[in-house]
Amino acid sequence: NQKRLTACRSDISRHNAQFLALFESLIPANEEKVKQKQLLTLLEKLVGKQWPESRLYLYGSCANSFGFSKSDIDVCLAMDLQDVDKSELLLKLADILQSDNLQNVQALTRARVPIVKLMDPVTGISCDICVNNVLAVENTKLLRDYAEIDVRLRQLVFIVKHWAKSRGVNQTYQGTLSSYAYVLMCIHFLQQRRPAILPCLQGMEVTYFETVGNIECSYFDRVEKLRNFGSRNGESIAQLVWAFFQYWAYCHDYANDVISVRTGSTLSKRAKDWTRRVGNDRHLICIEDPFEVSHDLGRVVDKFSIRVLREEFERAAEIMLYDPNPCVTLFEPY
Ligand code: CTP
Ligand code: MG
Repeated sequence: NQKRLTACRSDISRHNAQFLALFESLIPANEEKVKQKQLLTLLEKLVGKQWPESRLYLYGSCANSFGFSKSDIDVCLAMDLQDVDKSELLLKLADILQSDNLQNVQALTRARVPIVKLMDPVTGISCDICVNNVLAVENTKLLRDYAEIDVRLRQLVFIVKHWAKSRGVNQTYQGTLSSYAYVLMCIHFLQQRRPAILPCLQGMEVTYFETVGNIECSYFDRVEKLRNFGSRNGESIAQLVWAFFQYWAYCHDYANDVISVRTGSTLSKRAKDWTRRVGNDRHLICIEDPFEVSHDLGRVVDKFSIRVLREEFERAAEIMLYDPNPCVTLFEPY
């Protein structure tokens, strides 16, 4: 059986070149990064005039190195609100941006995360600005640091995100998972390979430390020292894509386990008290946030969408094994 598996795995590697070419095609070109910086600089100028003490941070896929070409940017406005109401602040911000020729400016003050949306006609980039979502800035840095350690993380995430978007399973409002959740699933998966491809940065010496409210964000961030970490594992990207789907289709214990990038391992649902439905949180697939540990990124998944997800994982695993052209079939629209 082991022999067959090994044969199968090396067979899968013949698709490597195609997966790598796909990855390359999804990466944003350098000039896009330049345009993003240009827009950030403009926003800094406008916001700085009104609130000199404030700061702007990029977060999400434009800053965590898992962003596709042509994606929107996420910006966090960090400032001391004191007794200013957040909605009022967002409305004021929208006013300022509107009067500087930015387009489609909209303040969404009732959203779960209130934001101002806008489009910059000069660069063509759309942008969401939130206020004081500093934890997102911290987890963005953690994700980016993981990406520096082994290039296979970035390759795997791009392919998984592309698959999730093509198959319609990257929509939290429909009960499937956010891109952020998929990145955590990929990190966890690479921490679990033997030999491991990624370390557990939060389990190592602390070289970076920030507190956000009562949450401590601390971990080892000298990732340039870890560039050879995964070199004892020679698995190719095609093998990893297959094994990733195999893991989520057939190996993960949905009834009992929580995946935890923070501990580099799995935890039991019982230990986290994530065993039953509380309000709208059902915990049918459990993904612990690395910093906000009471937060389950899988809580949006309901009893219908968990089936959709698991069937998609199984479909993908089968395609990787049996389809002559997985790099096409995997991404066929649903
Ligand atoms: N985020 C979070 N908690 C969540 C969802 C998102 O903290 N439950 C933060 C993360 O910092 C994440 C950012 O919000 O990086 C943006 O989330 P998302 O849109 O899911 O990820 P992106 O990386 O921006 O992916 P996409 O390319 O699909 O926009
Ligand atoms: Mg985003």
